[in-house]
Amino acid sequence: MKVRGYYYIFTYGCQMNVHESEKLAGVLNSKGYTATEKPEDADIIVFNTCCIRESAEQKILGNIGAIKPIKKNKKDLIVAVCGCMSQQSNMAGYLKQKFPFIDIIFGANNVEYFGEYLDRFLEQRKFQNMVIADKDYIENKNAISMARDSKLHAFVNIIYGCNNFCTYCIVPFVRGREHSRAPADIIKEVQTLVNMGYKVITLLGQNVNSYGKDLTEDINFAKLLEQITALDGDFEIRFMSSHPKDLSDDVIDVIANQPKISRAIHLPVQSGSNSVLKAMNRNYTRENYLDLVSKIKSKIPNVKLSTDIIVGFPGETDKDYQDTVDLIEKVQYSNAFIFMYSKRKGTIAEKMENQIAIDVKRKRIHDLLNIQHEISDKIFRNLINKQERVLVEDENKDSFIAKLQCGKIILIDKKSNDLKVGSFAEVKLIDYVKGDLIGKTI
Ligand code: SAH
Ligand code: SF4
Ligand code: F3S
Repeated sequence: MKVRGYYYIFTYGCQMNVHESEKLAGVLNSKGYTATEKPEDADIIVFNTCCIRESAEQKILGNIGAIKPIKKNKKDLIVAVCGCMSQQSNMAGYLKQKFPFIDIIFGANNVEYFGEYLDRFLEQRKFQNMVIADKDYIENKNAISMARDSKLHAFVNIIYGCNNFCTYCIVPFVRGREHSRAPADIIKEVQTLVNMGYKVITLLGQNVNSYGKDLTEDINFAKLLEQITALDGDFEIRFMSSHPKDLSDDVIDVIANQPKISRAIHLPVQSGSNSVLKAMNRNYTRENYLDLVSKIKSKIPNVKLSTDIIVGFPGETDKDYQDTVDLIEKVQYSNAFIFMYSKRKGTIAEKMENQIAIDVKRKRIHDLLNIQHEISDKIFRNLINKQERVLVEDENKDSFIAKLQCGKIILIDKKSNDLKVGSFAEVKLIDYVKGDLIGKTI
């Protein structure tokens, strides 16, 4: 096919968005466009946006603004903005007013229609504000072609949207209610990926444990995991995210019994304080959470846990913060993503009194990151002399670059080890140097 032009996609936010950019790229490839590394060379620039925190939005607005001079020099450049930020109510109008050079605007739930929007725009070649037509789920999820970023890792959506309404969170407002994909469609997609040689399949959802609740079939997340792992092939299943209130014993048992499922589990706790958890509408207590962690650790001995934490939620006292410190010390996460609370329009927490001062938030995030850094360091150092299964993902001049299931990099010397990029290997960890683990084959 003749090259019709070049495109560049800016992607912000979570894995869901990374995957949706693969769909946007698939649409553009199928229309004869080619990806370019430089936005200034592009004929189409897409911003796939996130609005989880104000800092994300500010950065995106700055980056969109920076396109103005490119557009000035290149009148035919098409600029599209999509994703969670543009799905917010009144945002399309705001964007259009602030950046009149944007050509197409659509929401996170309309990604599958990008091809149609683009065709319509190209036919008419005039400014159109493609306002988000529908805030909810669109039944077109299987039809789209994707340009996947990796040959080893693949994302597969299993459930869209969120019903939880944590009081700080904007996701339910922009992603709509929970909609599970049909199990047969998921199984078919995973089998195709495994046949193509993909090694790690990550099942995506805002809360994967809710999978199936909205379907009439006899299915839930544990059963889905069983069906997927029954497929033939040498592959590994990961998933994110898991809401602690919904992680069932059945799911823990399937993970414990099924070696194809990753031993790295992301279990966002958000806070270690019961009063904060209550105000967040998380529907569990720190005791519930710690019990769940003990159960997971006893059934899955080599598990590595990671988490998300928000500091500075409205009303968070020093004592509440100390409860979070205490919890992370008890759980011993291999990794924690720590955020400062950010007010989001339309959420319950936005209206709460006792918003925390920015310098308090900054101090708490700084201290907690340091504490977590030491915990992670200790966990990885303790892996010395242990055996781990890794995926060899890349190589440089001297080393194979492998990763643990939790994402930690393992360097393996090429001179004394014979490995193949793209394959799993059992390695013994022999050293920990400047934050990198060193392994050797066994
Ligand atoms: N559905 C996933 C996470 C979605 S957002 C889950 O429930 O685990 C990813 C993380 O961003 C959340 O876990 C939370 O820690 C953080 N987050 C969400 N809203 C936020 C806000 N208003 N301010 C700061 N962090 C926020
Ligand atoms: Fe947001 Fe809570 Fe839903 Fe996660 S579970 S997306 S934090 S509302
Ligand atoms: Fe951001 Fe939307 Fe993901 S708000 S974190 S891109 S679901």
